[in-house]
Amino acid sequence: MFIVVGVTGGIAAYKAVNIVRLLVKAGHDVHVVPTDDALRFVGLPTWEATSRNPVTTSVHDDVPRVRHVALGQAADLVLIAPATANTLAKMAAGLADDLLGTTLLATTAPVVVAPAMHTEMWRHPATRQNIATLAARGVHVAGPADGELTGGDSGPGRMLEPDDIVARALAICRPHDLAGLHVAISTGGTREPIDPVRFIGNRSSGRQGAALARAAAERGADVVLVAAHVDDGVLAEASHPHITVVRASTAAELKTAMTDAAADADAVVMAAAVADYRPASTSDAKLTKEAAERPGRTLDLVETEDVLASLVRGRRAAQTIVGFAAETSHGDELLERGRRKLERKGCDLLVVNEVGWQTGFEAATNSVVVLAAGGDVVAEASGTKREVADAVWDAVVAAR
Ligand code: CTP
Repeated sequence: MFIVVGVTGGIAAYKAVNIVRLLVKAGHDVHVVPTDDALRFVGLPTWEATSRNPVTTSVHDDVPRVRHVALGQAADLVLIAPATANTLAKMAAGLADDLLGTTLLATTAPVVVAPAMHTEMWRHPATRQNIATLAARGVHVAGPADGELTGGDSGPGRMLEPDDIVARALAICRPHDLAGLHVAISTGGTREPIDPVRFIGNRSSGRQGAALARAAAERGADVVLVAAHVDDGVLAEASHPHITVVRASTAAELKTAMTDAAADADAVVMAAAVADYRPASTSDAKLTKEAAERPGRTLDLVETEDVLASLVRGRRAAQTIVGFAAETSHGDELLERGRRKLERKGCDLLVVNEVGWQTGFEAATNSVVVLAAGGDVVAEASGTKREVADAVWDAVVAAR
């Protein structure tokens, strides 16, 4: 890959030498674009020697080759490490007063920033807003870590370690194997109201669906993400120019939103935890103990519609439909339950994951088995929710 490494003026610039070395060692064509300030920390010969390519900082160098845009146009990936607060602000504003700025404006490649600064600067509202702006534009923010900072301070702001940054940056550069596809994904957990202040809900955080959306968008798809009660922090992980978020609350609202989104979707993924039952009636007034005729209370429940089964019934030609199965059983029984569910639902793939008091929900990691129609195991994945998401999309690509 043609990788541009932007280095900006922070002390962590000395660690970026190792990032360049690791990328070159992995066989990539690395072009370093330091800012003038970065060169006060690490000199130009070091960047040329480690990257094995010529290095310049000015838009006035190598003019016949239109270097101010050529690097950005050629890049498969742009990685800025360290990214100072000043550089993040310039990126958010779209400033292009040096070679790094013009390169960033000229590129359509994925951009990863590895921030490094003191905690106060990282927490400043200006930096927070710049990070949010960049994330909304699809820039990947790797770190920072919480740890020792220059001058004896400690806290969030330390640049991630070079091998971690390299691993994250390369993971983002997946092939665009979903390019041109429309996908509809549901995530989160529905809430069925009992009265204006109470509901029947579940513990789904929506993280797996957000990771599925992000992975799909980065692999080239246009995504509609139907989110039921997902925190803004989790949805921020799914912020990407090719992801449209639609909010839904109840199973019935989620069904309407997913039916709309599925109408022109090539792939549909039902990762949401949809309530199987809702209260038979919803009270407009808060239910009180005072009004109860006797101690205790019985709530009458009626079944909600099965959204996945309904999407399968109404599917368009060549649409791939993926269901999820959250099960508290393990081993063979988990698979058997998954196979029965797959047959009942009629979807093409079923992602079976074990859940429990401590497993599955609300966690950053997940472990799944993917079954294909007929019951064969076509994939197994465990790791971050992003890794699981990529394994699910690999299975979708293979199934299509
Ligand atoms: N699902 C759905 N509509 C519902 C319930 C579930 O679309 N009313 C979908 C989920 O989004 C998931 C799949 O069906 O993709 C399986 O959900 P799960 O809760 O594991 O299974 P249930 O069908 O609810 O069966 P059970 O609770 O008996 O295991």
